[in-house]
Amino acid sequence: MGSLRIAHRLEGLPPYVPGRRPEAGETRRQARLASNEVPWPPQAAIVDAMKDALEHAHRYPDMQYAELRDAIAAHVGRPSDRIAVANGSTALLRDIVGVLVEAGSEVIFAEPSFPYYRTAAIANSAVPIAVPLLAYAHDLDAMRGAITPRTRVVIICNPNNPTGTAYTNAELKEFLARVPEDVAVILDEAYVEFARDVNGLELMDDHPNVIVVRTLSKAHGLAGLRVGYAIGDSEVMSYVSRLGVPFRIDGVAVAGALAALTPEQVAESRRRVASIVEERAVLTTALRSRGWNVVESAANFVFLPLGESTASVAAECAAGGVLVRPIGGGIRVTVGSPQDTEHLLGALPVLANEPPR
Ligand SMILES: Cc1ncc(COP(=O)(O)O)c(C=O)c1O
Repeated sequence: MGSLRIAHRLEGLPPYVPGRRPEAGETRRQARLASNEVPWPPQAAIVDAMKDALEHAHRYPDMQYAELRDAIAAHVGRPSDRIAVANGSTALLRDIVGVLVEAGSEVIFAEPSFPYYRTAAIANSAVPIAVPLLAYAHDLDAMRGAITPRTRVVIICNPNNPTGTAYTNAELKEFLARVPEDVAVILDEAYVEFARDVNGLELMDDHPNVIVVRTLSKAHGLAGLRVGYAIGDSEVMSYVSRLGVPFRIDGVAVAGALAALTPEQVAESRRRVASIVEERAVLTTALRSRGWNVVESAANFVFLPLGESTASVAAECAAGGVLVRPIGGGIRVTVGSPQDTEHLLGALPVLANEPPR
């Protein structure tokens, strides 16, 4: 590098590592199970709405995203002044942290969990504090114990990526009661639609320090559109919107998101989510019966803790035309269609002929 100096606070900033995609020219059948996407293309009505929006691409979108925020407000049953939107929930995570921390404030999160939390802290000159998982789940006692007067934010990934574990509202209530009121608790619910008895929105009335972050990338099947939303204290949300890059969701994505939030499309997304939940049970049982250790998952993926054989098993899957994600000492496998399950089972060896546990 020449004479330019990278900001000191960014030393060691980890790059975002995406799940593997098929490489150009890779013609073998590929089951793409590395990025927790849904296996279906967007519903026709959503595609049509986006095509129409292309005609208006010479105009900026509404900078306040009022219509989109209203649609989300109706979808989640909360007022729209408590909602902020951005181009993906990742962008929201970074800006929510940015609104709440000073230089040197601490941001607590679990590890392994969604790796971007560390980036969100560092990008905002805060100190990332990673608390190891306990039995593949957030160690809530240890996370509570890590809170100091410098802590401004605790992030709980619920269900957790990559392990799929989830806390119910009842369990989180106990934790929230022990967190100081001036520490924000961000509940990253990217996968909430695949879980049962998990809904951070219901915790917000008793705990105004809770901020729920969700996305249209997973259950709504629109990862390529980049639309996420957050629900929280209206003043915090207002600052999140001010801090974000103006016009950051493009008009075509807004049109797609609005279409996705109409009752008919939501109903279809729910049917698709239900089929993924069914397939998750099929896949989990099949893997266990072949001798693989599978963590019980509440999301649209399952985690196989593999330790040192993680890289070789991921490579074996890739050689069999199945892309999975080596992460956090295991492989994370997205639950897809029954065909995807078949491909995965075909790519993995049978370790033992144990009866399903
Ligand atoms: C836990 C978690 N949060 C947030 C995201 C980001 O989602 P988005 O596509 O809305 O940026 C992901 C994506 O994989 C995730 O796993």
